[in-house]
Amino acid sequence: MIRRGTSFAAAVAVSACLALAGCSADDGPKLSVSGAFMPQPVDDMAAGFLTVENSGGTADRLTSVTSDIADDVTIHESKNQRMREVTSFDIPADGALALERGGNHIMFMALKQRPEQGDKVAIELHFEKSDPITVEIPVKETTYRPQQH
Ligand code: CU
Repeated sequence: MIRRGTSFAAAVAVSACLALAGCSADDGPKLSVSGAFMPQPVDDMAAGFLTVENSGGTADRLTSVTSDIADDVTIHESKNQRMREVTSFDIPADGALALERGGNHIMFMALKQRPEQGDKVAIELHFEKSDPITVEIPVKETTYRPQQH
């Protein structure tokens, strides 16, 4: 009798927990990276593009990018054909951050070596909440554009 009452109370507590946002420990951002590429650089700077998807119920922010290929790696937005450095990009809950040609991008300055098509460049993405993610970015031809659909 007492045992049954206890387990019933426990079951109620669990379902109440699931119903309340923020109760579960894994309700944070759930990030994954896709579609990364770097156009083969023609001088000592390069750009990187990728998409960070967030299937979690909490927003996060991309705060910085690091790589062995350059000490000077920043994140840029493009507006009215001009680009400027930003301190972070939003990654909305149940949404995505798209870094793509003509828009937001990763900028590598003063490359220590110049990667060529077929190479892979390792970068580390740093976030406000989530653990860093390492991505091997494939280097594509200079004019490469991913397939649109
Ligand atoms: Cu830029």
